[in-house]
Amino acid sequence: MGSRLSGMSIHSANQFTPSDLDQCFSLTRELENRDARGESIDLLRNKRGTVLFYENSTRTASSFTMAMQAMGGSVDKIVGVQYSSEAKGEVFADTVRTHACYSHVLVLRHPEDGAAERAAKLCNIPVINAGDGSREHPTQAVLDMFTIHRELGRFDGLNVTLLGDLLFGRTVHALCYLLSQYPVKQVNLVSPEILRLPEVYRQHLAERGVRFHEMTDLAECLPETDVLYDTRVQKERFTKAGIEHLYEEVKKAYIITPETLKAAKKDMIVMHPFPRVNEITMEVDHDPRAAYFRQIRNGLYVRMALLAMVLGKV
Ligand code: NCD
Repeated sequence: MGSRLSGMSIHSANQFTPSDLDQCFSLTRELENRDARGESIDLLRNKRGTVLFYENSTRTASSFTMAMQAMGGSVDKIVGVQYSSEAKGEVFADTVRTHACYSHVLVLRHPEDGAAERAAKLCNIPVINAGDGSREHPTQAVLDMFTIHRELGRFDGLNVTLLGDLLFGRTVHALCYLLSQYPVKQVNLVSPEILRLPEVYRQHLAERGVRFHEMTDLAECLPETDVLYDTRVQKERFTKAGIEHLYEEVKKAYIITPETLKAAKKDMIVMHPFPRVNEITMEVDHDPRAAYFRQIRNGLYVRMALLAMVLGKV
């Protein structure tokens, strides 16, 4: 079959075409089924990956690591620059080049916008962006799309609400790129005024003919919503932007409770890339519409599929 993504670095969700997503989704399902039946999924035998994270992570680092190992590859997981020679003054470029000497793929999370793209130019192995500053998180967007499709069976005609920190939320930015490739009905952008989706993504939605509405009040769009995609307020980005004094206020702007969901459709799904802080109460977890733990599990198999595609094992 072969994959167009073979040997490619992934820095933006904008690089994926609908046919790449189709291929990724069918491979994801196949890997998951084979794994459930106890069959071998060791497509990455003799492949080595480096998971290099300069920011905290629970899901992304672990799912990439487990994905690599479950497919028979090996992995070097480095989370936290204090364990790297960068703590001794080594420059980023040398760190990247060093890992490229050992590995077949580099999965990178970094606080600077564009870091993955820069890293890809420094080495000759594929670099997968696992979050670059407040720009993008493309593999999260792929697993989000997979989840939407699995839960609701379609993209066409969906009413999607993106909620919370749309300014700094890199998962939302990447998701906008992927949603814009399908005939969704409407995207509602619900955020505090100071956390609006950046112009570049609004412009992209407009150029792709996606109908979108910005608002501050969730109640305006909740009853029509099919997918409620909530996000955490990205506290760590507030200081650099000089708006840390506004954090406590915006953090309380939207809190999803069982009461909130009374106004929502019975078959709506609630998604969240996690970590959640206070924006969805734990009582919501018992509602069958809460899809976030299913979303997390999908991430493992979607990342297996993406690794196999990038490493040319499809
Ligand atoms: C997100 C991230 O790191 O951008 N988490 C994730 O990878 N699932 C969201 C966040 O940190 O709020």
